[in-house]
Amino acid sequence: MPSITKLALTALAATTTLATGINDFNCKSDSNPVVFLHGLGATYYEDINFLQSWLQTKGHCTYAQTYGAYDGFPFLGGLKHINESAPEIAAYIKEIVAKTGKSKVDLVGHSEGAFQSLYVPKFEGVAHLIDKIAAIAPPTHSTSFGNLYDLAYLLGNTSRQAVGDVLDLFGCGACNDLGPDGAAVLRLNDGEPIVQPGNKVTIIASKYDEMVTPPETSFVHEDGVVNRWIQDTCPFDPVGHIGEAYDLNVWNLVLNVLNETPDRKFVCLLGSPGK
Ligand SMILES: *[C@@H]1O[C@H](CO)[C@@H](O)[C@H](O)[C@H]1NC(C)=O
Ligand SMILES: *[C@@H]1O[C@H](CO)[C@@H](O)[C@H](O)[C@H]1NC(C)=O
Repeated sequence: MPSITKLALTALAATTTLATGINDFNCKSDSNPVVFLHGLGATYYEDINFLQSWLQTKGHCTYAQTYGAYDGFPFLGGLKHINESAPEIAAYIKEIVAKTGKSKVDLVGHSEGAFQSLYVPKFEGVAHLIDKIAAIAPPTHSTSFGNLYDLAYLLGNTSRQAVGDVLDLFGCGACNDLGPDGAAVLRLNDGEPIVQPGNKVTIIASKYDEMVTPPETSFVHEDGVVNRWIQDTCPFDPVGHIGEAYDLNVWNLVLNVLNETPDRKFVCLLGSPGK
């Protein structure tokens, strides 16, 4: 997969200001407002921001902010411990409900954000404010991938120096939390159901995810959960972990979740950008 494309997109993301229409409280839609949760080391304006803008053009009102950033380093989100970011996300969900006047939101998360889309409803008392959840490649049962720090470099501000400085200063709580026997993973899998009553969860994963490994660790085997390989729909999509955020096939699968049209057909693109 052309990692060049991914780099180009990342560079584009880094220089793009907000697409029109997103984070607009005057936006009107019959659907629930959609809250986006970015990955480790990313911010609301990179990672799944393109997906956010695309869904906005499909008639959804979409909202996102950076979570889990340390004071003074707003350009690197998702680094704080999962249990510190979770209340921030819950507060944001309440804010979106209040400001839009809707009773529920839908959640779309990628990577750590996907993990949070399961963790926050379970532990932060906001499950009743959430309807549909599209979780792209959550490390639900932890990942054998040893070096989650790399995610901070891959998804975040492209300045490796800046990332290194922040990690040296504060560490990466989320990295430790999501690794093997990480605190947040153990808590999410405490024996009580992950999925909360009233929440409709779809997990979307790629067989070729090279970071959340083995990729089936994303899936939640509970009643009512839809576990979906990208390749079940688009067999020739070789997309990997980072590329999932920029992959039109994945975007269409997410749209199907939000529109509750799970079997809507779309043209699979061969070689969506990103790896
Ligand atoms: C990237 O990090 C630098 C600090 O090293 C910061 O000045 C810059 O604004 C950041 N860029 C973005 C797009 O966040
Ligand atoms: C949050 O999780 C970390 C481990 O990841 C733990 O050390 C800390 O005590 C937890 N904080 C609270 C308030 O539970």
